[in-house]
Amino acid sequence: MTRHLRVDGPNHDDRLDHMAQGVLGQPLNRLEGPLKVSGRAAYAAEARPANLAYGVLVQASVPAGKVLDIGDAPGALAVIQDKRMVRYAAQGQAQKAPKSGPDQVEYMGQAIALVVADTFEAATHAAQNLMVRYAAEDVPVNPDAVTPELPPQKQASAGDLDRAMATAAVSVDAVWHTPSHGAAAMEPHAAIAQWDGDRVTIRAGLQMLSSNRAQMADALGIRASKLRLLAPYVGGGFGSKLGINAEAVAAAIAAKELNRPVQVSMTRQQVFDLAHRRSETRQRVRLACDPDGRLTGIGHDVLVSNLPGSEFSEPVTQATPFTYEAAHRQIVHAVARIHRGCAGSVRAPGEAVGVTVFECAMDELAEAADIDPVELRLRNIPEDEPVTGRPFSSHKLAEALRDGAQRFGWSDRRPNGQRAEGEWLIGMGMATAVRVNMLVESRAKVTLLQNGQAIVETDMTDIGTGTYTILGQLAGEMLGLPVDRVEVKLGDTDFPPSSGSGGSFGAASSGNSVYLACEDIRRQIAKAMGCDEPDLTLQNGMARAGNIARSLSELIDGSLTGEGHLEPGKTEKSVRQATWGSHWAEVAVNRWTGEVRVRRMMGVFACGRVLNEKTARSQCLGGMTFGIGIALTEAMEHDSRDGHAVSRDLAEYHIPCHADVPGLEVHFLSERDAYVGPLQAKGLGELGICGAGAAVLNAIHNACGIRVRDLPATPDKII
Ligand code: MOS
Repeated sequence: MTRHLRVDGPNHDDRLDHMAQGVLGQPLNRLEGPLKVSGRAAYAAEARPANLAYGVLVQASVPAGKVLDIGDAPGALAVIQDKRMVRYAAQGQAQKAPKSGPDQVEYMGQAIALVVADTFEAATHAAQNLMVRYAAEDVPVNPDAVTPELPPQKQASAGDLDRAMATAAVSVDAVWHTPSHGAAAMEPHAAIAQWDGDRVTIRAGLQMLSSNRAQMADALGIRASKLRLLAPYVGGGFGSKLGINAEAVAAAIAAKELNRPVQVSMTRQQVFDLAHRRSETRQRVRLACDPDGRLTGIGHDVLVSNLPGSEFSEPVTQATPFTYEAAHRQIVHAVARIHRGCAGSVRAPGEAVGVTVFECAMDELAEAADIDPVELRLRNIPEDEPVTGRPFSSHKLAEALRDGAQRFGWSDRRPNGQRAEGEWLIGMGMATAVRVNMLVESRAKVTLLQNGQAIVETDMTDIGTGTYTILGQLAGEMLGLPVDRVEVKLGDTDFPPSSGSGGSFGAASSGNSVYLACEDIRRQIAKAMGCDEPDLTLQNGMARAGNIARSLSELIDGSLTGEGHLEPGKTEKSVRQATWGSHWAEVAVNRWTGEVRVRRMMGVFACGRVLNEKTARSQCLGGMTFGIGIALTEAMEHDSRDGHAVSRDLAEYHIPCHADVPGLEVHFLSERDAYVGPLQAKGLGELGICGAGAAVLNAIHNACGIRVRDLPATPDKII
């Protein structure tokens, strides 16, 4: 039997807080940790099937046009130019490119062919020596060079913002720029495809297997049932593996053609070229307030870019409508159609750059109004969602601001600069953290064996986030088993389809389905015990009800199986779901060189139930580190002549390294969200990013009086 739940309303059952095993929420180490540190967790490129051939993607060296001729490749087994590969190669996040034919180039660096050889070296050599002839086209590659589109569904306004600005006691009107970002996951994209008759198995680095299977079947023109995807371990995704990419499609096509397994791995540079980027943004923020700092007007006009015909556009203003209250509001979302690499979801799409910029503007308004930045935010928190009037499912922004201010020692901050220590100027800054929350349909199967061992199966992925561990803890809690008695199997499309990992929805969505599957098993045990399921206590392999106690091995004949199926329902539309928090930073700015050192950084977050305090904390540490990167170092620069990514390896694309990141502090506020299924947990992965960079940028201003509005705040912009 499948336990199915459509989330149509609140769930106030708090029994997970009172279960006997007491393992959920514990800061356990990752279950697969030993496999990872000993090299036994095999990533996509690490399988070695017999007779493996190697494919190398050939990339366009013009920004647009047609491929006229691909020359010979001596030493190669095949040169494959295939429409199916290119269609996905052009468009990250598995969006179809309407224009793409096998010979159509839409951006410089796009995959146009695959060269296959017996060794990776031979394939690389042959690919590099291909003589490709193009009929190049002149196309725009800079956002300012085109008249942008204004998708009607993305514009919003209420009241009269211009009037509110003109009559405001205090206002801010400024423009910020953020550069393109690369996802920069540690594991470069790779795939190995192997056919068995008309069935194909593909091992690849992917985040969302069930939708990836549908995309891959579509790309290859085969039925999904003929396709198995395997991604048991994924070395980070950050959005770049949400959809299928060129390497996996190319591997499948080549393996079929050559009738042998084929591996296609991207180089680090290819990852930057071919996996989608986060769009650069131009953001004009207008804020108007009364003398008491109550907002009267909010304007957020953004310009992002993507390829012609691509559906995705960076949702920069996603949190703007509901973060603060104001009667007069205007959102303008414009998209420049240009020929840089495809733009898609990267690490908290939208809020990562939108909240960061907006929170810098709030800091400017606080200064202009002569009101403490924390106080300014507290005065503008809405009771219900502005415009729609929907209630929030849970909302701890005020508590996160107050708690953070106290913990961080905010009262020591001086509005006009902290203090000088020799050549270093010290300052403090803060920002609101906010990110939309989503729940996605998810299924799981759990089997409880007579020997008191449980097996969890779902096609959910663990992209380094801790999924194996939290699902093991959850099943252990529900079934009364120590975690080492639970085996979690993930990353295989033969298992029930899950939400996958994306948009911070993975833990809550897949967790709820495991909860439901375990509940199904608990009902079967309760029946055998002759009690109602809520009266059943399971602990360390024993079942208790009233004064009856029996071991699971006595109760179970063979095994019990439970299936869970979670579906988001009406609740999604009736409440505003979001996660909240606050960011705090202390920086030192070098008076002579403009160098910024982050000295202290702290985040306070509310995300509903915390499933494992250690993996949850690690998510926040990673997010805050990305916040430092957005503020100080990260920029994918494009060549203004042809749009190609110039900074496209980890030497040129600067993510913060250990020396850039001080000991970060993370605190969680206790929270249960009743509107997100029985687990009462919300997403967390991306919240730590959203606004973190603003705390750093605001601290820079507090230290030295400089507002950097063209990110990142490299030393040349500060001295
Ligand atoms: Mo995330 S950018 O949805 O992996």
